[in-house]
Amino acid sequence: MKNILHVISSPSGENSVSIKLGNAIVEKLISEYPGSSVTEINVAKDPFPHLEENLIRVTRSAPGPVDDEGLKRSNNAVQQVKEADIIVIGVPLFNFGIPSTLKSWLDNVVRPGVAFTYSEKGVQGLITGKQVYLAVASGGIYSEGPLKEYDFAAPYLEKVFNFIGVTDITTVRAEGVNMPNLKDIALQKAIDSIAV
Ligand SMILES: Cc1cc2nc3c(=O)[nH]c(=O)nc-3n(C[C@H](O)[C@H](O)[C@H](O)COP(=O)(O)O)c2cc1C
Repeated sequence: MKNILHVISSPSGENSVSIKLGNAIVEKLISEYPGSSVTEINVAKDPFPHLEENLIRVTRSAPGPVDDEGLKRSNNAVQQVKEADIIVIGVPLFNFGIPSTLKSWLDNVVRPGVAFTYSEKGVQGLITGKQVYLAVASGGIYSEGPLKEYDFAAPYLEKVFNFIGVTDITTVRAEGVNMPNLKDIALQKAIDSIAV
C-alpha cells in the first residue's frame, strides 16, 4: 500500500497524452500495490502563483506562525510531496521545457530548509525515500536522433528531484505524438514500456 501523488500539468484535459500516460502509470502502481491511495493535483487548472516579493519572503523565512495564504498553499504542496511514497508527474513538452505551471509548483515546493538544506558538506536533499515517475509527452523524439541535444525537460526534472534527495526516478516517454508515422502508436508504446 502506497501513497501516490499524481501531478497533472497539461491544460488539454481528456485530449492530453501526458495525463493518459500518468493515469496508466498510476493504474499499474495500484495493481502492484493494492489499496494504495491516490492524491491528484492539477496545476494547469489550479495553478500555483509565480513567486513574487512577499511569497519569496514568507517561504524563505524561519518557520513561525505566519498567517499568509501563499505560505499555507506552499506548505500544503510540500506536505503532499512529503506524505507521498510515489510521485507521478505528467509533463507535456512545451518549447523544449516544462509548462510554466509545473515550474510554479516546483518553485513552491523546492524551498531551502524544507526540501533541501545547505550543510558544511554541501547541499543535502530533505525529500528522501521516494520514487518519482515522469510521464513525458512530446510531439517529436528527444531520447535519440537529431533532437536529442534539445532534450532539456526530463533531464532538468531528474536533476531537480536529485537535488532535493530523490534518486529513484523513472522517465516514461510518449514520443512523436505529432509525427505522422508515430502519432497512433506513441502512447500505447509508452504504456507498454511502463515497469513498476
Ligand atoms: C505550447 C506548445 C509547445 C510545444 N512545444 C513542443 C516542443 O518543443 N517539442 C515537441 O516535441 N512538442 C511540442 N509540443 C507538442 C506537445 O509536446 C505534445 O502535443 C504533447 O502531447 C503535449 O502533452 P499533452 O498532450 O499532455 O498536453 C508543444 C505543444 C504546445 C501546445
